[in-house]
Amino acid sequence: MVTASPPSSYFERLYIFRLVLLSLLAVVHGQTTAQQPSYSLPIGVKLWDGQVFEYIVVGAGAAGSAAAARLALAGANVLLIEAGGDPDLVSRAPAASMALLGSALDYHYDTVPNNVSCLSSQNKACVASRGKCLGGSTSINYMMYVRGNRDDFDSLNITGWSWNDVEPYFLRYEGLQDLDLLPASSIPYHNTTGTMKIEFFEDSNNPWHSRIVDGYEALNFPNNPDVNAATQIGVSHIIGYTYDNLRMSTARGYLGRTDVKRKLKVAKFTTCTGVIIDDNNVARGVTVAHGLFKAKLRLYAKKEVILSAGALVTPQLLMLSGIGPAEHLNELGIPLRVDLSVGDDMTDHTLPLVFIKVDEELNLLKEVLDGSEKVFSSLADIILTRGGSLGSIGLTDVTGFVNTLCYDFDKHQLINNSTECELPTTQFIHAYIDRGLLVVGGAFMQHSTGLEDSVIKQLTEISKNSAFIIISSLVLRPKSSGRVRLASADPLQPPTIFPNYLSDDRDVEEILRGINIIKDLMETPAFKSRGASMVQLELEGCPRSAEEDWSSYWGCYARHMTYSTFHSVGTTALGRVVDGRLRVRGVRRLRAADAGVLPRPPRGNTAAAAIALGERAADFVLEDDA
Ligand SMILES: Cc1cc2nc3c(=O)[nH]c(=O)nc-3n(C[C@H](O)[C@H](O)[C@H](O)COP(=O)(O)OP(=O)(O)OC[C@H]3O[C@@H](n4cnc5c(N)ncnc54)[C@H](O)[C@@H]3O)c2cc1C
Ligand SMILES: *[C@@H]1O[C@H](CO)[C@@H](O)[C@H](O)[C@H]1NC(C)=O
Ligand SMILES: *[C@@H]1O[C@H](CO)[C@@H](O)[C@H](O)[C@H]1NC(C)=O
Ligand SMILES: *[C@@H]1O[C@H](CO)[C@@H](O)[C@H](O)[C@H]1NC(C)=O
Ligand SMILES: *[C@@H]1O[C@H](CO)[C@@H](O)[C@H](O)[C@H]1NC(C)=O
Ligand SMILES: *[C@@H]1O[C@H](CO)[C@@H](O)[C@H](O)[C@H]1NC(C)=O
Repeated sequence: MVTASPPSSYFERLYIFRLVLLSLLAVVHGQTTAQQPSYSLPIGVKLWDGQVFEYIVVGAGAAGSAAAARLALAGANVLLIEAGGDPDLVSRAPAASMALLGSALDYHYDTVPNNVSCLSSQNKACVASRGKCLGGSTSINYMMYVRGNRDDFDSLNITGWSWNDVEPYFLRYEGLQDLDLLPASSIPYHNTTGTMKIEFFEDSNNPWHSRIVDGYEALNFPNNPDVNAATQIGVSHIIGYTYDNLRMSTARGYLGRTDVKRKLKVAKFTTCTGVIIDDNNVARGVTVAHGLFKAKLRLYAKKEVILSAGALVTPQLLMLSGIGPAEHLNELGIPLRVDLSVGDDMTDHTLPLVFIKVDEELNLLKEVLDGSEKVFSSLADIILTRGGSLGSIGLTDVTGFVNTLCYDFDKHQLINNSTECELPTTQFIHAYIDRGLLVVGGAFMQHSTGLEDSVIKQLTEISKNSAFIIISSLVLRPKSSGRVRLASADPLQPPTIFPNYLSDDRDVEEILRGINIIKDLMETPAFKSRGASMVQLELEGCPRSAEEDWSSYWGCYARHMTYSTFHSVGTTALGRVVDGRLRVRGVRRLRAADAGVLPRPPRGNTAAAAIALGERAADFVLEDDA
């Protein structure tokens, strides 16, 4: 785990304060109707050795919750196994998202360095956050609802996986609350009645919200009202997985439904340690470590086992069960059942954290510190009127999608001169750090991001007099890839995660094009009039400043300030590890359904696709077992 000084007492107090008030909120939101999403989650079942079910689903995250709920609603006897417990109350408030990173709900895995990325992280290795609770990573993520581009599926060239084949699964669960705020042309792209209710995030009351949009518009970015409709290109306010301004995880959306709770058995604090496979290569069940004392149990599935433990752990479980690269399993003394490239070709979305210093003094933080009145009033608001800024995700709901090859760096304008321009290569992501925040919260930021001392010190110093806007250019189609392997044959050890970010120089070139657009953004009236400038951190081994050599400074910066958005995919890829019906090759009655089966990350955030995969897996299972 990352070593850092504990979060400052200010944050601890704020955390406890929020906890208390949020429990009030729980009471207010307690009453719900039959199929409504609810925070009242299933009571965990007690398991015993040798128990038999029809289906066992491993992992209650984005995909696993959807798959298990659908199977149970279809009348099957389903056990859903989850390593964690219920998400805590802080997880409900969108504004508290940052507080979840590095918390007990986060696996906060270490990764293996590759010496060309994450160089300003402690031990030169980026952390890998993942949710450990019902809802999985949807209980700790940033809740951005972006499906990606239809080309992400069409270009796979896998029978049955074109956009037209998968779109119905995205629509099946979507419960858009704000269709009336979208143009009429958006109607065919949405469903308003699905179980995952989504809506625009609440306004953060931060003037930068509109200034950022103005900035991009000055560079000829179109204002795109709906990234999930005809085009992704432009600058947008995106929709969030929230409902009544509170987080809409898959725990709330699927597992909290009364009809699901009545039928689905959920085992919490139960870690799957492997798949039981017989001599004919038929999956018969799973082994688990159950409860506080980690009781070792065997559980059987008469029909199928579905692995949805996420892109980092599903490959681990397969390898522990003898399904993986022969040489690697031999080294660990694990008897080989199927020689498959499990864990290979892992790709992820990364970005450099670029800090923009602005003169602005909003005093949001000052109000918080002055007797916490602001926090109190926003919590009171959310409870009483379901308004107030705790439902906001800051500036993160402003996003931009662009093909950087369609940006004219001489004219400082986005152009649209080929069909390729509809395929974004970079996403811009935004966040705001109020003046002074790092002075009180630097240690907290260090703990959650894993950044090294010298960087935190430099940022804290600047934070005394300036606010920051973080603008990051995320590489949507990374060329670099890494892998997951077993660290040991002990299933309770985390896997070895080697993300291998930026090992392909083309990813740094893409980032540089993104950074050059950010540079132009600084010259737009919206930014320039507020004295905005890109912070040039002093980084070991980099030119002292960008003035000497712009590209080598920022290229070096990208390799230092690498940050993951936790979108890993590919470790159990469609076609390679699973077939078109998500069946693990070479084993019967075993499927994988989670982000790991996506061969490449979509041009967007990954939860939408992971949930759709869970929905689709349930369909496959029911059709094939009929
Ligand atoms: C901090 C963060 C921010 C993100 N922001 C966004 C965003 O804004 N928008 C977006 O679309 N996506 C976002 N993502 C990504 C998105 O949440 C994930 O891609 C998605 O949840 C992956 O779904 P999954 O089903 O593959 O895995 P997960 O949702 O991670 O679920 C896996 C589940 O399996 C459980 N599990 C693991 N091992 C075992 C075991 N051995 N036994 C039993 N259970 C086990 C885990 O505890 C977890 O509950 C973010 C992710 C993170 C971590
Ligand atoms: C990174 O450097 C360390 C120390 O020199 C070395 O042990 C390791 O193998 C290197 N890793 C890669 C992926 O090159
Ligand atoms: C798609 O796959 C088919 C069959 O595998 C192959 O013949 C064809 O060349 C592929 N098309 C592209 C564009 O890769
Ligand atoms: C929209 O959601 C409802 C409720 O889940 C579902 O019955 C319907 O099929 C969905 N519509 C589409 C087009 O998928
Ligand atoms: C489109 O314009 C960009 C920027 O001027 C240029 O680099 C690119 O070559 C042009 N593409 C086409 C197909 O004309
Ligand atoms: C770019 O041009 C194409 C073809 O004219 C058009 O369909 C598309 O909507 C345009 N995209 C944007 C973002 O303006």
